[in-house]
Amino acid sequence: VTASPPPIAVALDVPTLDEAVELAAVLQGEVAVCKVGLELFGSHGPEAVRRIGEQAPVFLDLKLHDIPTTVRRAARVLGRMGVAMATVHASGGAAMVRSAVEGLQAGHEEAGHDGDLPIILAVTVLTSMTDDDLASIGAPAAGEQVPALASLAVEAGAQGLVCAPTDVPIVRAAVGPDVTLVTPGVRPAWAQSNDQARVATPGEAVAAGADLLVIGRPITRAEDPAGAARRIGDELRAAG
Ligand code: C5P
Repeated sequence: VTASPPPIAVALDVPTLDEAVELAAVLQGEVAVCKVGLELFGSHGPEAVRRIGEQAPVFLDLKLHDIPTTVRRAARVLGRMGVAMATVHASGGAAMVRSAVEGLQAGHEEAGHDGDLPIILAVTVLTSMTDDDLASIGAPAAGEQVPALASLAVEAGAQGLVCAPTDVPIVRAAVGPDVTLVTPGVRPAWAQSNDQARVATPGEAVAAGADLLVIGRPITRAEDPAGAARRIGDELRAAG
């Protein structure tokens, strides 16, 4: 009997597609999904989704934010590619989030992909924004905006949200138990924090209520990426 992989989305932030595919291959069974970001998608496009998708479900992190029609059409293309998860900015508004959900699922069905329907994850407020940065664009402070945008996105059909580990309790309180909460900024106690400022360990993030942990460099830059992922998975099982 093989246990299901731990709830880790590995961020494949590496320069070339060959490196990303190689990592995805060695991490098979050790992580639940592979996250493809703007850099890899910008250089390799659908080919990146196709090749990485042969190894694991793909979480395509393009953070769409545009008028609803444009987002619906873009999300439909991503759904046809077979992604399992895609991101949008909740600040695009309810109609935009709903269009993303509908477009993604329509594309998935048109292409005849089997398996679960793909899900839209909404980003509330970028964790790089301080309250001063938010004030400078005329936006309320994060403590006020994060739960409000989380509720808006979920009411519009988003099945998941991306938030900092420190925001998980407040977001969970706003949206209830059925929404998938995805958190970056996760660092095992034995890893470097790199440029992540507000970090939580994998066990802390899951204890706070996170469902899926986005982890990049502690795995991708480890000498033994599969070993690092396995160690995090063991910590999660011990904590859970
Ligand atoms: O290497 P590291 O674990 O820091 O990678 C985290 C991943 O999560 C990166 O792909 C980064 O862009 C993404 N991310 C983040 N913080 C956010 C949102 C996304 O670190 N608030």
